[in-house]
Amino acid sequence: MGSIKRFNLGRIIKEYNCDYFFETGTWKGDGVAYANKFPFKKIYSSEIIPEIAQRARARFSGLDNIEILEGNSTDVFKAHLPNIKGNCIFWLDAHFPGAEEGINKYNDYEDEQVKLPLEEEINQIKSLRKGYTDVILIDDLRIYETGNFASGNMPEGILPPKRRNSLFVNEAFGKTHKIIKSFRDEGYILVLDNEIFTKNNTGIRKTFFDLRNKLFKQIY
Ligand SMILES: C[S@@+](CC[C@H](N)C(=O)[O-])C[C@H]1O[C@@H](n2cnc3c(N)ncnc32)[C@H](O)[C@@H]1O
Repeated sequence: MGSIKRFNLGRIIKEYNCDYFFETGTWKGDGVAYANKFPFKKIYSSEIIPEIAQRARARFSGLDNIEILEGNSTDVFKAHLPNIKGNCIFWLDAHFPGAEEGINKYNDYEDEQVKLPLEEEINQIKSLRKGYTDVILIDDLRIYETGNFASGNMPEGILPPKRRNSLFVNEAFGKTHKIIKSFRDEGYILVLDNEIFTKNNTGIRKTFFDLRNKLFKQIY
């Protein structure tokens, strides 16, 4: 499991003018707790397992800026994305319902759109978030690709997606966004608005991306 702590959300907020944070897959709520250190107007997180969602609600009770939304991430996206009127940082981290918690096995869910909702999440962001310069951070690239991941490749026995590649990210955002892969931890994909990325001279940063990875704890 990767960590949103790899990302300097404060810098991303400034560069991309983001007011909102939306995570898919809440689990213990550690991603939400990290996001809450930054000045977001609102933090949303969706979780499919009811008892996990309830526990996270209890953890953040009394914090009006945090909303834990129970349900399949793509159903939650459909209901909420059209109402978010500002740029958003997405942390897409929903997969294998209840497996990290130990209440389900990794291969228990047969419906791939529920077990691995990333492709559908990406398509929904593309269609429901037109006009915004959202930033998309994706965890666990190694589910989709074999590579030189710091934490190794996917353990054997966990069934990979039927279509095992991340081309759907390029298909949706390749023309408008800079798509950067990192092989730290279990792997990440960063999807960053082309115009802002280039304007901020981050093109130069890209050249030194691998070097930076070795030198700094954070990826962006
Ligand atoms: C890797 S954990 C999330 C960790 C968390 N994002 C963090 O940064 O600390 C994945 C979580 O996604 C949930 N999940 C899996 N499939 C889901 C789906 N289709 N919709 C919503 N949540 C899902 C799992 O139950 C699990 O709690």
